[in-house]
This record gives sequence, C-alpha cells and structure tokens, in this order.
Amino acid sequence: MEAALKLDPAVQDFVRAPFRKMLIDGKWVAAASGKTFDTVNPATGEVLARVAEGDAEDVERAVRAARRAFDEDGWASSKPAERTRILLRVADLIEKNAAELAQLETLDNGKSINESLNVDVPAAAGTFRYYAGWVDKVYGQTIPSDPAFFNFTLREPVGVAGQIIPWNFPLLMAAWKLGPALACGNTVVLKPAEQTPLTALRLGELLQEAGMPDGVVNIVPGFGPTAGGALVKHPQVDKIAFTGSTDVGKEIHRETSGTLKRVSLELGGKSPNIVFADADVEAAVQGALMGVFFNQGQVCCAGTRLFVEQKMHDEFADVLAKHAGGMQQGPGLDPSTQVGPLVSQEQLERVTGYLDIGKKEGAKALIGGERNTGKGFEKGYFVKPTVFTGVKNDMRIAQEEIFGPVVSVIPFKDESDAVLQGNNTFYGLAAGVWTRDVSKAHRVARAIRAGTVWVNCYNVFEAAAPFGGYKQSGYGRELGSYSIDLYTQVKTVWMRI
Ligand code: NAI
Ligand code: MG
Repeated sequence: MEAALKLDPAVQDFVRAPFRKMLIDGKWVAAASGKTFDTVNPATGEVLARVAEGDAEDVERAVRAARRAFDEDGWASSKPAERTRILLRVADLIEKNAAELAQLETLDNGKSINESLNVDVPAAAGTFRYYAGWVDKVYGQTIPSDPAFFNFTLREPVGVAGQIIPWNFPLLMAAWKLGPALACGNTVVLKPAEQTPLTALRLGELLQEAGMPDGVVNIVPGFGPTAGGALVKHPQVDKIAFTGSTDVGKEIHRETSGTLKRVSLELGGKSPNIVFADADVEAAVQGALMGVFFNQGQVCCAGTRLFVEQKMHDEFADVLAKHAGGMQQGPGLDPSTQVGPLVSQEQLERVTGYLDIGKKEGAKALIGGERNTGKGFEKGYFVKPTVFTGVKNDMRIAQEEIFGPVVSVIPFKDESDAVLQGNNTFYGLAAGVWTRDVSKAHRVARAIRAGTVWVNCYNVFEAAAPFGGYKQSGYGRELGSYSIDLYTQVKTVWMRI
C-alpha cells in the first residue's frame, strides 16, 4: 500500500542515518558496547531505523552527567526565568517542527498522522508550555511558630529523575515526564520504549536547540530489563517515574525498596464505559468508538468494558459494530486512516491471542475478531476493530488489559449493577458515564473507583488536569499541580530569632 503522504526530507534524513545516537551530557554518542537495535515500521514490518542500544554502562554515564548537572552545575538553582524561557522555547520548537515530529511518530508507532499531528504533537508542546508557567509558582510556606523562631518551608527538586516511558504516546509521554521534572529543577535520564525511540531522540535535539544545559536531560534508548533495569537500580537516581505495564510497575516497586527512591507509577487499566438508556445515544456511540479505537486501543485508559443498560444492549451493540466495521484501516501515513497498525509483532500476537481467548470463553465477535491481512496489510500489524458481545465481566477478555482495538459489550440491569460490575476489576484508571440524568451522573462519578471519570465525554485531557490510577493502575498523579508534588520535596527550616 502506498502511503498518501510525502515524507518530510528531514524525516528521511533522520531515519536514514547509519544509526541514531544517544544523548549523554550534551553529546550524541554510540553505546559503550557499540551495540544497536532496530526500530520497525509497524505498517510494513520493515526496519525503519537503527538506534544505539543503551545498557548499564551508558546509564552509569548518563546518571553521572545528570548528577553533575544537578549537584554542581546549578540547574536546580538556576534563575526561574531562565528555566521558563528554555521550556517555552522547547514548546515553540515542537510546534515549529510539528510536521516532522508527527511523521516520525507515525512511522515509528503506526498511529494515524491526524492523531500525531493534531493530538500528540500539540499536546506535547502544550505540556512544556504549561510547566514553563509553573517554574516561578512553586511556593513554600511561612509557618506560625513559637515567636523565638522563624519557621518556613522550601520546595526543592528531588534530584536525578529516571523516567521510563512506553510506546503508545512516545513524544507526549516524554513531555508529561520532562515538563514538570525540569520546571522543578530536577535533572533527568529518560529511557524511551525500545519500540518507539525516535521522537524522544529528535526531542533531545530540540532541547539542545532550546538551550538546555549539558547533562540536564540525558536520553538513553534501550531495552527494559537492561537499560530500564539499570536506571531503576541505580543508587544515584533519586526518583523513578514509570508508565507502562502493571507487571513491570510491580517489579519497579519491589526493586526500589532497596534504595527507597521516590516512585510514581502510571499503569494499566480496564476502564468501564457505562451507557445508561437515558443517554444521548448517538453521542454515546461516538464516545464508545473513540474510547476504545483511538490509537488502535493502545491507550491505558481505553474504555474496553462497555457496559450498556440491558434494555438497549443489543441495539446499541449492533450500531456500534456497524460503525466499527466502517472505520478506515490503513497505514498511519495515509490521512484517511482512522485505525492504523498495532505497534509491534509482539503486540499483534498479544492482541490476536486475546481474540482467541475471547472466542474460547464464549464471546461473539459482532465485527472484526481477527487480524487484517487484506491487500497491502500482509506485513503490517493490523487488527480489525472488534466488538465482542456475550461477554461476562469475569471473563479474561473483560479482566485483562488487551491493549488493542477490542471492546467487550456487557449488559447491566440498573445503576447499582453498573457500579458493581464497573468496579469489579483490580484496575482503576478511568471510567465513562453516559446519561442525561445529572444526579445519576454525579452519583456514579463518585461511586466509581478510578482516577478519572468522564461524563458524556471520553479521553479528554488537559495539561492542568491530574491523571493517574486507583488500585493497581498505579500511584502518583501526573499533570496539573500534582506533578509538581512528584518532582519536589519539602524542607522545613527553623531559624532562632
Ligand atoms: P512494558 O511495561 O514492558 O514497557 C514499558 C516501558 O518499560 C518500556 O520503556 C520498557 O522498555 C520498560 N521496561 C520493561 N521492563 C522493564 C524493567 N524490568 N525495568 C525497567 N523498565 C522496563 O510494556 P510492554 O511490554 O511494552 O507492553 C505490555 C503491556 O503493557 C501492553 O500490552 C499493555 O497492556 C501494557 N502497557 C501499558 C501502557 C500504559 O500506558 N499504561 C503502555 C505500554 C504498555
Ligand atoms: Mg514488556
């Protein structure tokens, strides 16, 4: 299949280099081992670019640089106006290079160019701009105390932050992590996901162009257990921020008990999207589609358990399946594509594995239910948008994160049944509620145990609004003022008068 979009020459140069180097202490360097790994274009299964493969020695060098930038070079004590200026420049540069970044993201991840260009890239710029505004608004307190003393607090950066990000929103997750860390004066070692390292590396160049001092941000691509593991274990890393699978989140939780470094975890989800019979049905259908097929369903807060009030369940499922079947699937670079390929062969296998599990459990695919190997799709990682009915909430496909374009439609009797089933999961990342009854909307929003509840909408994000999990979806809140808490610590100072 021919991609309809002509590639930006800068993108072609970027991927054609013999291999992309990593950023350590302001320099682009090969891995200490000399090793590289391939990143693949998921629309074609072909190698897209080669990237330096970071491991423990590279992490060691990167942490040393970040330590020096923090302890000696004074990023933490730099003038707030200076940090603001640099972060604003980063935001501007992301926008200036939006077309290039979007194409790179689409090539590496597979997502549609419309999403890269209109969602991910502007949101990444917006996140840097939002946190640029926080730099000079992080206050301590003056505390009433015995008049013999003056007692106040300082909010200080935590130190060196190790940030490990996933492949579903590579540039945007880098922005969510870097924006607040840098605003608060921390220095960083960032490890992008091995499936999608390219936009983080391009961002590294933009950070330099924006005037980021050497060593403040180091970017070490590589694999989870090696590069990621070294960062997690490193005694000189003060904080780990992680977004990814719940299993790895738990491993990080265990590993960091040895050093007690600060940890924030944004993990998986199996979010209930609850449609009451009194909802605006057309809006709910659109919300349900977007809630689960956006980014091929590779979204931690995807509304994968679609609870529909019993009396309209069958009709709603049919309409949904009709719409899902009409969604345009294709390579992300084709501007008409609505559903692109999954990110990797591994993810393709995981998702098709769940399609088999679902069928064995007795679920019925009203539409989709299989890999798309139509003409032009043979080598890519395409899975057809899938709507399962006949699903019970205790089936594996309703309890385990699939991370693909697969929704389970499940009937419910009444409000309390919806809440009971909705909460019956060990995840708690997000939820949706569709109803015209304002009181019911309030009651359900409170009763659902999740970090975000969307009422008559889904997947709405702002840099100012906190995001994170209840239960095993993780801990810590990113975005808004809450990220400032993750990247600062409080010092109480007593002075005798
Ligand atoms: P993963 O959790 O293995 O990978 C996420 C990041 O963690 C990557 O940068 C990876 O290199 C790193 N990592 C992996 N093992 C590590 C370790 N031992 N120590 C330190 N860092 C490590 O996720 P994976 O395998 O790519 O996807 C598996 C499933 O995880 C998906 O099917 C999905 O269910 C879930 N997931 C959830 C995400 C979210 O946004 N919450 C994002 C990506 C995956
Ligand atoms: Mg993994």
